[in-house]
Amino acid sequence: MGDQIGHLPLQDIGLNNIPAVPYLLTFSEPLGTVLRLGLRALETRSAKDGLSVTYTIGGRTATAFEFLYGSAPSNPLHGAAAEIERVLLGGADTLLHRMTAGRTTGATLAVRESQIPSLSLEQPEQFAISWTRFANVYQDAYPQLSTWASSLTSIAAASEQFWPTIADFGLAYNLIILELVNTAETANLKALFGDTWTDAGMDAIQAAGRLYAIDMSIFESFAPATVDNLVRFTPGTITLLEQDAATKKLTPLAVRVSTQGSAVVYSSHSASAGAWLYALQAAKTSVTVYGIWLGHVYHWHIVTAAMQMTMYNNVPPGHPLYQLLEPQSNYLIPFNEVLLILWSFIAPPTSFDNPLKFLQLMDLFAAGREFFDDDPGVTIRKQGLQEAQFTQDTSWDRYPVVQNLLELWQATADYVDAFVSATYATDAAVAGDAALQRWIAAAAGPAEGNVRGLPAMASRAVLKDVLTSLMYRVTAHGISRLNNSANPVLTFSANYPPCLQSATLPPANANLDTRALLKLLPWTGTIGDLVNFYFTFVFSPPYEPFIPSGGVDTNLPFPSGMEDPRNRAVVVYRNRLIEFINGYEPSNPQLGQWPLNIET
Ligand SMILES: [Fe+2]
Repeated sequence: MGDQIGHLPLQDIGLNNIPAVPYLLTFSEPLGTVLRLGLRALETRSAKDGLSVTYTIGGRTATAFEFLYGSAPSNPLHGAAAEIERVLLGGADTLLHRMTAGRTTGATLAVRESQIPSLSLEQPEQFAISWTRFANVYQDAYPQLSTWASSLTSIAAASEQFWPTIADFGLAYNLIILELVNTAETANLKALFGDTWTDAGMDAIQAAGRLYAIDMSIFESFAPATVDNLVRFTPGTITLLEQDAATKKLTPLAVRVSTQGSAVVYSSHSASAGAWLYALQAAKTSVTVYGIWLGHVYHWHIVTAAMQMTMYNNVPPGHPLYQLLEPQSNYLIPFNEVLLILWSFIAPPTSFDNPLKFLQLMDLFAAGREFFDDDPGVTIRKQGLQEAQFTQDTSWDRYPVVQNLLELWQATADYVDAFVSATYATDAAVAGDAALQRWIAAAAGPAEGNVRGLPAMASRAVLKDVLTSLMYRVTAHGISRLNNSANPVLTFSANYPPCLQSATLPPANANLDTRALLKLLPWTGTIGDLVNFYFTFVFSPPYEPFIPSGGVDTNLPFPSGMEDPRNRAVVVYRNRLIEFINGYEPSNPQLGQWPLNIET
């Protein structure tokens, strides 16, 4: 029996680390994805119509909508179906060939047809341009506006807001990125930070266990892009932060910004005000790009799709594993495929402007990385984060991203525990399940799933570990669709810039005023693309909700109804997600907005 789902021959182009990227050669599923995405473009129309606040930029006065999209946006996916057909008719090698030839799609980006050219903002408050009046986003966010704008003019405000902006709001980007600087790492960091290390007294802070780092240097080796005549730059950055022993607040001390062999170290003590504000924006840019492509897409799309592909290829319908996994294994594989084919239509505005560059980033990140390394608990442990250092009143309340993701993890682990306990009476039953053995062997096989670090399926305990890691990725991904995850913090793009618009690194003593700083941050064209990206998730309903509209005890995945303890566990899982959403969005819990699958 041949595999139903094939994958891109990425190893032929030297990408040996990335898990397999499944590729469906039939036209119907990718086309279905395009049609569904096209529908979403219509569904987000009301939210875009709410971009009605008037701004004056570059001597022009117009509404936010007109600056971002012109008089009326065309359907961004116009022409997309024809493009899909062209690529798929060529077979699996065609996309790869086009990528390696540096040419991705024959179609051009149709999202933005504004008569107004892309402009740099002139006042920090203008980043509110992406707040819609729809669903009261603008009105509810307005009280925050002067505070967030001040992060572009006041070094005190910028330093103060830097860490909470990440730790409180990086849910959709899976931002478990902070690491404790241990003694072994100090020599390397000392060399990179030079005099700044000594001047800021880093040795003593490190020795006291209060020195932390956010290492985004992975971007150093990737060249900036030029899109629509404007540079898109993701800097490599390493940010050092000091934790206050009493308040547990983290404050950035220094940022090293680097790209392709050149680097500048900015210190909170000695850099000019403008240069320090730049450095924090550069750090936030690399954190955002990490969040989009590595925190979200690598952890939740790429590894998951390789596991789902091998599941479909090896586990027959009717098998208990299929009953468990299939309901949450739809849409992702064709979505990933369409993302690669229609990169310039769908991908957010980062310097990863073509699918080959994206796959190269995935491959670099995947080097030496194992399946369980993506689990939040493992990540936290490897990064040296101690619960006590991030807990004031309740567990991890000083790092809400971790707190929330661990809650989703535990709910998933309990569900999987009930499934495995009810399905496999003994460890021998796990070892003797031929379909399971085939699946995991295929997932681990370099020529198939290419997922490293999967354990031998010899016990119920290891099966629980694997299934929890897989199902958690699907469920946790759903948080990206909740309004709170994007609005208003991420949509104020100075909080989470998707790119810088110049690759020049200002010197640490640069005289950089607000207008000069704003020229380096996202321009209106970039903001328009970014808003399009966010609105697609948060202002369209999921294809299938996690909480069934008929109630938590409907749509049960296992036969024999509530007699089956696994179905009872599903109900518990759904109720815990309801509890989670109520806590996450207390004023307007969107119980129907959490998707069952990874849809986009
Ligand atoms: Fe996603």
